[in-house]
Amino acid sequence: MARITAGVTTSHVPAIGAALDNGRSADDYWKPVFAGYEFSKEWIKAEKPDVIFLVYNDHASAFSLDLIPTFAIGVGERYEPADEGWGRRPVPTVEGHPELAWHIAQSVIQSNFDLTMVNRMDVDHGLTVPLSLMFGQPDAWPCKVIPFAVNVVQYPPPSGRRCYELGKALRKAVESFDADLNVQIWGTGGMSHQLQGPRAGLINAEFDNQFLDRLINDAESLSHVPHIDYVREAGSEGIELVMWLIMRGALEDRVNCLHRFYHVPASNTAVGHLILENTGNRT
Ligand code: DHB
Ligand code: FE
Repeated sequence: MARITAGVTTSHVPAIGAALDNGRSADDYWKPVFAGYEFSKEWIKAEKPDVIFLVYNDHASAFSLDLIPTFAIGVGERYEPADEGWGRRPVPTVEGHPELAWHIAQSVIQSNFDLTMVNRMDVDHGLTVPLSLMFGQPDAWPCKVIPFAVNVVQYPPPSGRRCYELGKALRKAVESFDADLNVQIWGTGGMSHQLQGPRAGLINAEFDNQFLDRLINDAESLSHVPHIDYVREAGSEGIELVMWLIMRGALEDRVNCLHRFYHVPASNTAVGHLILENTGNRT
């Protein structure tokens, strides 16, 4: 059967993609950011996942105010990097896994979570920057990716609790797929940031580090934190962090934290990154 072996969380700051694409990753400003992913790049080379279930948010690239799905699963064969106003990023096309994606859609929808199925969409920095951070600059991404877009752009976003419970349904879905696949789940976006209004530039390192602590060891209670606490403490875009709870819900109650990284600032945000591994102990 397919199994979820590990979870990865990472910020998706678009300027990180630009730094990499323009050969600036060794600059004084960017070096410490990329250094935080050195371990991760080696780790993932050894892990060789077959599929990444990549929870991310679209930033009005594939969707717009015309159509705002709360949860959208990519069931297509492939996804092109979006043109976000300065051309397509020079990164490979993302190859999907339609068979697993349709299986997950069936299982999760019939577990009472209403997903939107997407056959065709372009993927923006929310998805491509995490891939670049973990895999560098390959000619082709080394595994299949199932994009899973969450609305955290237009109010109201889903609650942390809903996201956490969705993660649990995802785990059940993956583990009932009859093929021997190593599946990772990634929760991306975050951490504290606010891009507009009087509080633009807000970063709250204390909140972020507590969030990292609790995501590892105390996720059940963390999942009950209401939206308003994210907005107050982590800024309006800090709400992206609910996507990390989908990842955490899909892992076991007890996990090993293999890697933890936190750095401020990168553009307007804090960069946070975790690698969590299932222990194999069923709870
Ligand atoms: C920035 C961060 C984001 O998450 C985003 O989607 C856009 C911009 C930033 O820090 O500049
Ligand atoms: Fe974002």
